[in-house]
Amino acid sequence: MQNQPVLGIDIGGSGIKGALVDLAAGDFVTDRVRIATPEESTPANVAAIVAEIVSGFADQMGDGPIGITIPAVVTHGISRSAANIHKSWIDAPAEQIFSDHLGRQVVLVNDADAAGVAEVKFGAAKGNEGLVLVTTLGTGIGSALIYRGVLIPNTELGHLEIDGHDAETQAAASVKTALGLSYEEYVPRLQRYYETLEALFWPDLLVVGGGVSKASDKFLPKLNLKTPIVPAHLRNRAGIIGAAWLAVDKVENPDRPS
Ligand code: BGC
Repeated sequence: MQNQPVLGIDIGGSGIKGALVDLAAGDFVTDRVRIATPEESTPANVAAIVAEIVSGFADQMGDGPIGITIPAVVTHGISRSAANIHKSWIDAPAEQIFSDHLGRQVVLVNDADAAGVAEVKFGAAKGNEGLVLVTTLGTGIGSALIYRGVLIPNTELGHLEIDGHDAETQAAASVKTALGLSYEEYVPRLQRYYETLEALFWPDLLVVGGGVSKASDKFLPKLNLKTPIVPAHLRNRAGIIGAAWLAVDKVENPDRPS
């Protein structure tokens, strides 16, 4: 991994965040900049905000790639889904749209995949050589499956159908907020979700990220699982750090299919 700081950008439903990342240390070398996500969060509108963030860092970075996350499936630079974002992302050549706006190479990745990679390389699952399943509990539920340090991208396990429901509509942190659930009331929903993941994937470690993981002591100890389950360490830095890591990884391995 290279020494020069790399820009990571994390696109979320309410904010677009960016920071320069030192990939040797696995941490930011600048403050995190945040601009609100535009109301109409189409690819072009979001790209304009990303360009604003990039220009703020331009004189501190080289001409290397920029890693960008979005809360959608991404295959070969195309965004394929839009569960909680503007529907115009579906089948948009999003990576190309960003690189056209920015005049730089862009590597676009799923937000949970980026967070998961960061937790395995630098965070709660650092050094784990087994099967790690990272989930992010937020507006939706994101997932990253990483085996022996290698990401299996776009797992979308927030959309597992459990008891006839799309899992994220029952167990995302936004559901806790929308229904005004106490942690006590939220725990059975998480129990059902994580016991299903466990029965289907048998991971060595479960990592729980997303804003709600700040209060993990209120719910993780109450879950009854066979698998160790731990809070994410990098929290709201994970997406940015993972995006930067995946960008450099892609550029250093140009012949690998994306
Ligand atoms: C999306 C995923 C995303 C997750 C977290 C889900 O609704 O389908 O692609 O990773 O939310 O943002």
